[in-house]
Amino acid sequence: MEKFVVRGGNKLFGEIEIQSAKNSVLPLIAASIIYEGKTYIEDCPKIYDVLVMMKIIEKLGGKAYFDKNTLVLDTEGVNDWNLPEDMTKEIRASLFTVGALLSRFGYASISAPGGCNIGSRPIDIHIDCLKDLGVNVYEGESFSFSKKTNNGGITKLRYKSVGATENAIMASVKSNGVTVIENVAKEPEIVDLQNYLNAIGGKISGAGSDRIVIEGVKKFNGKEVRFKPVKDRIEVGTFILAGAVCGGELRFKGESFENSSALIKIIEHNACKIYSKNGKIECVKFDGQTHGYGFVSVDPYPSFPTDLQPQLVAAASFSDGLTVVVDNVFKRRFGYTEQLKKTGADIAVYDNACVINGGKKLSSAEMIAGDLRGGAALIIQALGICGESTISGVRHIDRGYDGIEEKLHLLGADIHRIYY
Ligand code: EPZ
Repeated sequence: MEKFVVRGGNKLFGEIEIQSAKNSVLPLIAASIIYEGKTYIEDCPKIYDVLVMMKIIEKLGGKAYFDKNTLVLDTEGVNDWNLPEDMTKEIRASLFTVGALLSRFGYASISAPGGCNIGSRPIDIHIDCLKDLGVNVYEGESFSFSKKTNNGGITKLRYKSVGATENAIMASVKSNGVTVIENVAKEPEIVDLQNYLNAIGGKISGAGSDRIVIEGVKKFNGKEVRFKPVKDRIEVGTFILAGAVCGGELRFKGESFENSSALIKIIEHNACKIYSKNGKIECVKFDGQTHGYGFVSVDPYPSFPTDLQPQLVAAASFSDGLTVVVDNVFKRRFGYTEQLKKTGADIAVYDNACVINGGKKLSSAEMIAGDLRGGAALIIQALGICGESTISGVRHIDRGYDGIEEKLHLLGADIHRIYY
């Protein structure tokens, strides 16, 4: 077993090397199945969810391995469309292979996908839009998909689901017609997916807007593609919120200011001064949170992201005032607050709203991570409190952060991983 031991109270100073976005890399690994060739994903984080997706590629007949920080995927040998249950139950991203397998083979079979314990994770939006695009879906113990027609089509998502958007795009890349997908998610990671698929020979436009148009193609380019994904805006936000609590000064090499603008908007006038150049965050100086964050609504991109909601709630418990966070994306994503309350944080949850009364005296505690971003919130909490805290359940944190404790240690945090 492993846990983090944190002695909080240190300021954070230094430059952080941000990983490629987990939520870009995972759909890209799925998308590589469409293409019978080699894909090189640069600066790929060695996180648990990537390792599971690599195993899925190999189980389906492909090859996946790291060459230093580049993930190499060779999908020429992929010859199966039945996903292994033990792997699909582990991570939500396994669901994203359905669209890719439908484009490659016209078939896919998957058990109910797993994922972080952040509330129910239905797949009805995925199923509804694939049905609109000519896919037969058999729903039972597992889900089987088969393309009855392959002539494109029109679909409108009832909700801007990130995964359903990605699955619909991947299912439509190889077809005999044009596909239009309305009310799509607009995350930067979806723009990455569009750019990768166009690099292999797809004809996709509109990612980042409300409508995506895919002109189906029958074959793809060459035999290998190199791709550098967007940086992880959630990792950037996690470190910025840690800085808001600890104080100090952090530098982010060439990070995209635009992708973090929803966080920057609420934090800049409260906890820090942001120095940017040509739209890139150069440096963030933290001079202490002066007040609560007021009302923060969590909604699909470009609004404040649900994947930073737990980290914001932790930071708010150190601010001197009131913060109300309403999560309209995952309405039950507040389980981690029970752990924060062990430190004396004044937090109350009402349905999908969380009220934080900051400024209370907080003390170190033994906390247990139950999901990825909730775990990141516990780290921020422990960093801000003098005294020794521990965080177990580290495997949840390792799903999405590549060596977060080492990066924090390099910035001056007293945090260590111990085995027991
Ligand atoms: C992606 O999950 C991300 N995961 C999540 O990141 C992120 O929180 C989420 O998008 C929202 O931004 C990956 O990209 C691997 P959704 P996804 O479909 O696609 C409901 C992290 O911490 N819904 O946009 O599963 C759903 O229950 C992870 O990095 C349906 O009802 O999210 C949720 O309430 C966590 N039916 C809302 O929509 C469906 O068919 C948003 O889900 C699909 C979703």
